[in-house]
Amino acid sequence: MHDFSYKNGELYCEGVAVNAVANRVGTPFYLYSSNTLTSHYRAFQSAFEGVPHLICFALKANPNGALLRLLGKEGAGADIVSGGELFRALRAGIDPKKIVYAGVGKRRDEIEYALKVGILMCNVESGEELLAIDRSASEMRVRAGIALRVNPDIDAGTHAYISTGLKKNKFGIPIEQALEYYQTARKLHNVEVIGVHQHIGSQITEVKPFVDAIERLVQFVGELKAEGIDIKFINMGGGLGITYKDETPPHPRELSQAIQPLLKQSGCTLVLEPGRAIAGNAGILVTRALYHKDSEVKKFLIVDAGMNDLMRPSLYEAYHDIKPVVEPASADHTVVDVVGPICESGDFLAKDREMPEVKPGDLLAVMGAGAYGFSMASNYNSRPRVAEVVVKGNEFFTVRERETYDDLIKGEKLPRWLVG
Ligand code: LLP
Repeated sequence: MHDFSYKNGELYCEGVAVNAVANRVGTPFYLYSSNTLTSHYRAFQSAFEGVPHLICFALKANPNGALLRLLGKEGAGADIVSGGELFRALRAGIDPKKIVYAGVGKRRDEIEYALKVGILMCNVESGEELLAIDRSASEMRVRAGIALRVNPDIDAGTHAYISTGLKKNKFGIPIEQALEYYQTARKLHNVEVIGVHQHIGSQITEVKPFVDAIERLVQFVGELKAEGIDIKFINMGGGLGITYKDETPPHPRELSQAIQPLLKQSGCTLVLEPGRAIAGNAGILVTRALYHKDSEVKKFLIVDAGMNDLMRPSLYEAYHDIKPVVEPASADHTVVDVVGPICESGDFLAKDREMPEVKPGDLLAVMGAGAYGFSMASNYNSRPRVAEVVVKGNEFFTVRERETYDDLIKGEKLPRWLVG
């Protein structure tokens, strides 16, 4: 479900014509629907009503402060992976007691920041990190809530770069060794073992990998209990997929129906860390066509957004639907590569894509760009990062200004020997 649809041949986001936003803010820009975002959050909330749960939005999908504040108001917590994400979550008013912190490489200053503000728990990814957290907590005279991230060795059936639950991945602790780690953790004076965490991958479009992974976790929680280690939280991570093309991912309700019986048996509170399923289809990237160019073997449509604005097609060969903002009068189609202005052959938004006639100056909407879109954008080729705009009903608001050329050199300095 999303709130981008055509009215009289023009693409709208809720009650706002995409064209009207382009006229005001220029192109390219990200455009988000607040209604889609909250509806997706509420879909999770109501699906899991039957079990004690906490939904921690994965900030990495989209850390824009306005979107976070909106989700925070709905009751969402946050899944973070850095001090920067913690800063953003707190700034958006998210209660530290609803924040969970994953990531294989937490620095000491980041651990101290998390302990200082009193987050719910750190999801620990290695034995050395466990000791580092215990040390920091001891120095700060606090007790750190922790979960160990276990790697259940489940194939999530997704792209290799976004699969995380296999033995060969760098994430988590192999489930066979996890009991040993929990026994070590229990003996530490400054950590309190409260949870078990996993995240098996992203853009998962079936229920089965989740069920398999939860089954292993629940069984493992039982083993811990037998050892006298009482676990309060089972964190199943994120990973639920969305429709980019023709995928038919399960609704959160189906996921919930499949795993609830297992969870009830555990008596634990469920933590979820959805990112893409909440933000992905709540955003589009709007770009303007610049030029056509035909070679002997290819037709190119050159647009003003590039891989620095939306990296997913270049990095994962990900498919994003591209729609004309104004539906063309002609039904003719051509097969083109939709490419950006970056000096890389890998700079494309679509390859060999059947597109309606697009003239220079026409606006295009790259769909499903609300997650891992702006958050992965860079300044490559010294391109200022684009504006972000949120729609609510018939109104829109720029929640992040387009960067300026001055922003590009912010923080740069000249050494004395180069001045003058
Ligand atoms: N929790 C943890 C520990 C994670 O590592 C991730 C994503 C999530 C939650 C949220 O996963 P989601 O619900 O969004 O699938 N840049 C890639 C996706 C990388 C995901 C990394 N971890 C992409 O554009 O497809």
